[in-house]
Amino acid sequence: MNILITGGAGFIGSAVIRHIITQTTDNVLNVDKLTYAGNLESLVSVSGSSRYQFSQTDICDKEALTHLFQTFRPDIIMHLAAESHVDRSIASSADFIQTNIIGTYMLLEVARQYYDNLDERQKATFRFHHISTDEVYGDLHGTTDLFTETTAYTPSSPYSASKASSDHLVRAWGRTYGLPVVITNCSNNYGYYHFPEKLIPLIILNALNGKPLPIYGDGLQIRDWLFVEDHARALYLVATQADNGKTYNIGGHNERRNIDVVHEICELLEELAPNKPNGVKHYKDLITHVKDRAGHDVRYAIDASKIERELGWRPQETFKSGIRKTVEWYLANQEWVKNVQSGEYRHWINKQYKS
Ligand code: NAD
Ligand code: TYD
Repeated sequence: MNILITGGAGFIGSAVIRHIITQTTDNVLNVDKLTYAGNLESLVSVSGSSRYQFSQTDICDKEALTHLFQTFRPDIIMHLAAESHVDRSIASSADFIQTNIIGTYMLLEVARQYYDNLDERQKATFRFHHISTDEVYGDLHGTTDLFTETTAYTPSSPYSASKASSDHLVRAWGRTYGLPVVITNCSNNYGYYHFPEKLIPLIILNALNGKPLPIYGDGLQIRDWLFVEDHARALYLVATQADNGKTYNIGGHNERRNIDVVHEICELLEELAPNKPNGVKHYKDLITHVKDRAGHDVRYAIDASKIERELGWRPQETFKSGIRKTVEWYLANQEWVKNVQSGEYRHWINKQYKS
């Protein structure tokens, strides 16, 4: 099968490509603009494969996309390209509107034209798989309620509103034009090759460098953490097995308060990196409460029973096992870390945490 993946140089897209190249016989075309978040170094273990190709292309460029569809002839589209960081969307939303909404629209239009010219056999298996987030559902205020596939959309941030918009476009292209679409909405991912602007890699790297560990507000907000490789397996399963028109929520059954996540990382570092930077007695002493995020969602938690029941997917990692692997990976991959901490990264971090 030929699988066209957008955003394959990002955190989750690169995990999906590593999974496909190592675990299947499918061909991959990675279509990625290489924004600050895209990093081809995350693909070095598979980029030598004859089944892997890369094109540096913006998904808003309809002509370039049309050419790629004509030459690669995809059977499946897995659409992950997006601006993905909530804090950046609050600081400046333009790129989120452009890539997440306009980019998805362009991709849908190109896919529709391409699909219309397929023969009946190819049409039967073609899928446009849109990868989305649980943040489209807004947040939960109880302690036991869960997001299901029928929860109403009430996004809070420019990021989640742009993702919600793209989900609506995808469903409309399915219903109106008959494009075979599937959508997945996943909870927070963590794991290898995660860009260090997001909570978990930021905390690991700041701690190792003796820098403050910023907790927004009281740190009591809850996220439902999923190991990225479990997500990659789920995505491949949905893209290749799910019926036309289906939606699946994907989650790890690992709800944690932010403050507890940070303490867990500090404890692991005490064990795995006991030689602390100068002047640091305990990693947890670096914890610093900072100004809360505007519109901060209180709690996310996923009911993943539909994908478990219908496709037999289950996460393999618990938070305890996954976070240990993640901390070990960052300790063993300082070179990757050094390379992503480029000028643009430093500029963002300096601006975001200036006080
Ligand atoms: P990421 O920010 O790490 O990677 C995004 C990738 O998209 C980068 O490689 C970037 O270069 C590329 N990209 C951005 N704009 C582009 C454009 N205009 N054209 C082509 N490529 C472009 O994001 P991620 O964390 O890997 O998330 C991937 C997808 O999964 C996103 O759609 C996101 O909304 C969704 N998602 C993420 C999470 C999470 O916890 N990270 C959870 C649920 C869903
Ligand atoms: P993040 O990793 O940005 O993911 P998302 O906003 O998509 O859930 O943040 C996870 C949680 O951690 C969120 O509640 C915000 C909080 N957070 C901090 O407390 N400090 C930080 O420096 C960052 C980046 C996030």
